[in-house]
Amino acid sequence: MPASSPSSSGLSAIRALFAKENRFVGRIAIIAAIGGFLFGYDTGIISVANVYAAKSLHFGTLGESWTVGALLLGAISGAALAGWTADAFSRKWTKFVGGCIYAVAALGSAFAPTLITLCTARYVLGFAVGTASFVAPMYISEQAPKSLRGGLTTFNQVMITLGILVAYIAGFALKGFTTNWRWMLGFGAVPGIALAIGMVVVPHTPRWLVQKGREDQARGVLRRTHSPETVDNELDEIKDVAQSQHAARLRRLWSPRIRPLLIVRISLAVFQQILGINTVIYFGTTIVGFMGYKVGASVGVTVYLGIINWAFAVIAVVLMDKVGRRPLLLVGTAGQVLGLLSLGFFFMQGSAFQHANPGWGVASVMFYLAAFEISLGPVFWLMISEIFPLRIRGKAMAVATMFNWTFNFFISYFFLEMTKGIGRDGTFWMYAVFGVGALAFFFVRVPETKNRSLEEIEAEIRGEDSGEERAAA
Ligand code: BGC
Repeated sequence: MPASSPSSSGLSAIRALFAKENRFVGRIAIIAAIGGFLFGYDTGIISVANVYAAKSLHFGTLGESWTVGALLLGAISGAALAGWTADAFSRKWTKFVGGCIYAVAALGSAFAPTLITLCTARYVLGFAVGTASFVAPMYISEQAPKSLRGGLTTFNQVMITLGILVAYIAGFALKGFTTNWRWMLGFGAVPGIALAIGMVVVPHTPRWLVQKGREDQARGVLRRTHSPETVDNELDEIKDVAQSQHAARLRRLWSPRIRPLLIVRISLAVFQQILGINTVIYFGTTIVGFMGYKVGASVGVTVYLGIINWAFAVIAVVLMDKVGRRPLLLVGTAGQVLGLLSLGFFFMQGSAFQHANPGWGVASVMFYLAAFEISLGPVFWLMISEIFPLRIRGKAMAVATMFNWTFNFFISYFFLEMTKGIGRDGTFWMYAVFGVGALAFFFVRVPETKNRSLEEIEAEIRGEDSGEERAAA
């Protein structure tokens, strides 16, 4: 019997997350989160693979920018398409196709004979990454009992960071190998195949099934993921919400009721990127190099950054349902601002200071990463999957995700140019200013969603009683 008592919080929620009775929902969350691993691996591997691919295929920094950029552009398109397929053909089959595309495109990148073919393969790969980036948290949040939803959905972020860490380690381990970049890129096919196979065996989400009128199947799934006493209530809530909605037209996203929600999610999407997280993830080795480390040492330090990144995502799983989304978001964003100010200060000093205190720079980056991983990292993906009304959840998440990838593209693409234009310190000060703006916005506009069913959240937004509240009355 799954332990999903609505009142479970704090330590009991943590225990529940690892409890035997939650094994089924835990297992399907792990399978779905392979999508997060793909996302992370491809995000991390290109920074290392690029160095060797550039030599082997004879391209320069412009080519390097395009191997990164092609994936990001593919991710924007993939997110757009998946917004439609996740509603029309299900979260499950969208993720299955994403895994297949990923496997094929990873092999395509590995065997690419020219820069153009490499960029084309990376664009197609981006399609799968863009899909996985939001359909994975969406799938998990729709399967999880509310008391576990934060932790289980945050698990997707753990897998993203694990993918990044494995990519850094692979880059480090394959340093001296001939055609190493082909192996680095080709390895991505393994998790792609694992995801595709895994998605065949997991069930559809009950919310999607209800939306398609397959109520009996939805009940069957809820019986396996929720405790028996909560199944009927949960199903009633899902049905209530599903029945009260009209067809999901794209323009409904801009209706007066949805617009404020969409604006908050889009803001989370944009802020997640404009505080500069991917400058560290994509250019970690370069930034560490700015601090005075030699190339070999920088690659090693980057692995430590990857470990911190991953470790704090793990800590977030434990904290998410205990502390709540909002406090983590506020504290973590403030931490990111401190890390950025410290980095700005470090780069403002002359190179003599920097070379004498490289540990200062590295510690600032680590602090910044840790703060991101307990806040904006997981909270953005979690909150976009928690808050949109069921009928338009796919499209609304896709829109927020497209903003996220678009700003990811701009921030990463222009990072090196910015460091030349306004200086390394100026670049990090600028991100810090964005961080202060983010903090003020979150304080005023982002509500707590911990321990509430997706339908309760939705009912509150519409100013109605939820099914559960009515039942209790
Ligand atoms: C972000 C990615 C980022 C990753 C780092 C994710 O939540 O969306 O852009 O690379 O976290 O861990």
